[in-house]
Amino acid sequence: MGGNDPERWIAARMGKFESSGIRKVFDLARQLKDPVNLSIGQPDFPVPAPCRQAAIRAIEAGHNSYTVTQGLASLRDKLGRQVAARFPSHSDRKLLVTSGTSGALVLALMTVLDPGDEVLACDPWFVMYPNLPLLAGGIMKALPTGPDFMPDPDQVEREIGPRTKALIINSPANPTGAIMPASLMERLARLCAKRGVLLISDEIYSLFSFDGPHRSPAEFNEQALVIDGFSKTYAMTGWRVGYIHGPSRLIEEMTKLQQYTFVCAPSMAQHGALEALDLDMSPIVSDYGRKRDYMRERLEKYYDIGPPGGAFYIYPKAPSGMKGSDFVAKAIANNLLIIPGNVFSASDTHFRLSYAVADRELERGADLLIKLARD
Ligand SMILES: Cc1ncc(COP(=O)(O)O)c(C=O)c1O
Repeated sequence: MGGNDPERWIAARMGKFESSGIRKVFDLARQLKDPVNLSIGQPDFPVPAPCRQAAIRAIEAGHNSYTVTQGLASLRDKLGRQVAARFPSHSDRKLLVTSGTSGALVLALMTVLDPGDEVLACDPWFVMYPNLPLLAGGIMKALPTGPDFMPDPDQVEREIGPRTKALIINSPANPTGAIMPASLMERLARLCAKRGVLLISDEIYSLFSFDGPHRSPAEFNEQALVIDGFSKTYAMTGWRVGYIHGPSRLIEEMTKLQQYTFVCAPSMAQHGALEALDLDMSPIVSDYGRKRDYMRERLEKYYDIGPPGGAFYIYPKAPSGMKGSDFVAKAIANNLLIIPGNVFSASDTHFRLSYAVADRELERGADLLIKLARD
């Protein structure tokens, strides 16, 4: 054996990252036989055929090299036209194609955070929000939320301090499925503008808004950074295409950083994504809305399920005062895979289920959850 312990090469920073609690559930899943799996955060429909064919054509036609860092001009133009139609009054909005929404989040946070800076985000949060700021020596400060999973804007204002650089809003949200009312978006967006805080809106679930059109806090804040992607909308989680748009100065800095990190989003996936923008996804949205209604109807008598307005998650409270993690252990012992809420929260009170699965699986899941609530 060589003399150096690899431990000595690991940066102190790495001690702050914990391996994802979701991965731990996946590891457990491997030991179960034919489990009902409501733990997965990705769509269950196939990538639309025109996108698959376009990606294959791109490979065969030799589009296998780097693209420009900003992303294919054709894709940027098409996305840019959509963005301009959505935010017609925003005069300084530039767009960058990224390696998934995750890539956009990394670039955004690395671009704006100095060591010691803070980012505000709601508890429950998406797992990347507390972890990514650590890369830049920053930290996420959690905003408590009520039973509707919404923060109190007065409390948000009190939390803003001299080191607060950004506020992340994620609506529809992972893990709660909650959609922020436009009036609250407006208050928070205006608060950010007033206090010089950058608003970052993660809109990856924008398509999955079941009870009305998707609203963006950027409607009320011209300088907001908006992040979106193709992973959830077109079931392309493995293709790694997302995009970010916002003030040109910030996008220029992110583009510079992308040159030295991700380089570009995968070329063939960008060609596939270009086709996606012409597709009508409304049949998928209504089907997922139907799945949401089914789970809500079956579970609401037994669980406090909050308001699951979108994405494809429900975030129920564990029954009879049980800890979320104890309830999940019990569910897994009964062959049902769900995610404990303490992966997404400082509280261990809830669990996340995903209804992006086949109807038969949902039925089995609902049966098991009802049985567990009655036990
Ligand atoms: C809220 C949220 N943001 C970002 C992402 C990252 O998505 P991707 O990097 O696949 O675009 C996810 C994935 O689960 C998510 O739930």
